[in-house]
Amino acid sequence: MSNKVAGVFRSIMKAIRVNQFGGPEVLKLQSDLPIPKPSAGQVLIKIGAAGVNPVETYLRAGAYAKLPGLPWTPGNDSAGIVQEVGSGVTDIKAGDRVFTKGTLTGSYAEYAVADSSCVFGLHDGLDFKQGAALGIPYFTAYRALVHRARARAGMTVLVHGASGTVGIASVQFARAYGMTVLGTAGSEQGMSLVSQIGAHHVFNHRQEGYIEKITEATGGRGVDVVIEMLANVNLQRDLEILAPRGTVAVVGNRGNIEINPRLTMGKESSIVGVMGAIITEADKRETNAAMQAGMESGWLKPFVGKEYPLKDAAVAHEDIIKTTSALGRIVLVP
Ligand SMILES: NC(=O)c1ccc[n+]([C@@H]2O[C@H](COP(=O)([O-])OP(=O)(O)OC[C@H]3O[C@@H](n4cnc5c(N)ncnc54)[C@H](OP(=O)(O)O)[C@@H]3O)[C@@H](O)[C@H]2O)c1
Repeated sequence: MSNKVAGVFRSIMKAIRVNQFGGPEVLKLQSDLPIPKPSAGQVLIKIGAAGVNPVETYLRAGAYAKLPGLPWTPGNDSAGIVQEVGSGVTDIKAGDRVFTKGTLTGSYAEYAVADSSCVFGLHDGLDFKQGAALGIPYFTAYRALVHRARARAGMTVLVHGASGTVGIASVQFARAYGMTVLGTAGSEQGMSLVSQIGAHHVFNHRQEGYIEKITEATGGRGVDVVIEMLANVNLQRDLEILAPRGTVAVVGNRGNIEINPRLTMGKESSIVGVMGAIITEADKRETNAAMQAGMESGWLKPFVGKEYPLKDAAVAHEDIIKTTSALGRIVLVP
């Protein structure tokens, strides 16, 4: 039996190509690129939607430790239908609805090839746009909360930057796992979204005095865990509002900050880094199992803020970096 979806005779596709690192304008739509072929252990996906992550803007700008070779099609996260699988792939078949966390050929395209270990089943309750918001954000949120900060039921968690995609995922995991959840956003709309997705208390990180309000909301005790999206702005204040033996998990950082290390001594606080890209296969399987359970129960629901056609990838890149009011994921629809 063929392991291809019937009726696909095209050999070329549309995809975004970057020929030199630079501003958003280097993201060019090309219509004559060959549809990639899956080798052993790989999967070809017809993309329904691709998620836009901040890391793709750093890579596009050439401002990241490890850069891809050029020409390059950006994109890690996607959701769509499996078109064909390479030899040795037994747990995924043509026709399956899937999402990816990482692709080999780039998800800003009509088709992409991914390693089968980065392809996961997409629950019927989620559409492709929601599926495109799952990969990096939910894997990172689980890694930060469970693997790195070791948060447990009964703890108080501050998601510092909860209106973006990793923030939303962190709020949903923390709430489902029995924690008291405090979230921040930088706009009224963002705050209302954070409340809607399950945070018990919501604050505006652009408002004077919000840190004091967070401490008040914990009855003066502080928070056990901070999931931090902008450490270069917030790390010193995070250390100030930690409860004894609390942990700050640094997820996002865009510069330097001066902190007083003494603050970690009196309360025996920890600062831990989070790097979703270096996850082990065992941790990946665990995270996927947690996500599948969340999708089945219905509490794991990614929020899609804006969608753009593939040709407007440059607008999406401007948007995700410049916005002062994140509202979930920006997706590209081929
Ligand atoms: N370590 C890793 O493995 C890993 C993985 C994924 C992402 N990241 C990083 O984590 C960060 C979040 O990713 P994302 O995909 O969720 O991005 P996103 O969707 O663009 O969300 C960005 C979030 O940061 C918030 N923010 C803005 N100013 C803030 C401030 N002063 N204090 C606290 N939060 C603030 C935004 O809130 P408003 O817009 O409402 O102000 C929004 O909630 C990015 O820097 C990304 O590069 C790291």
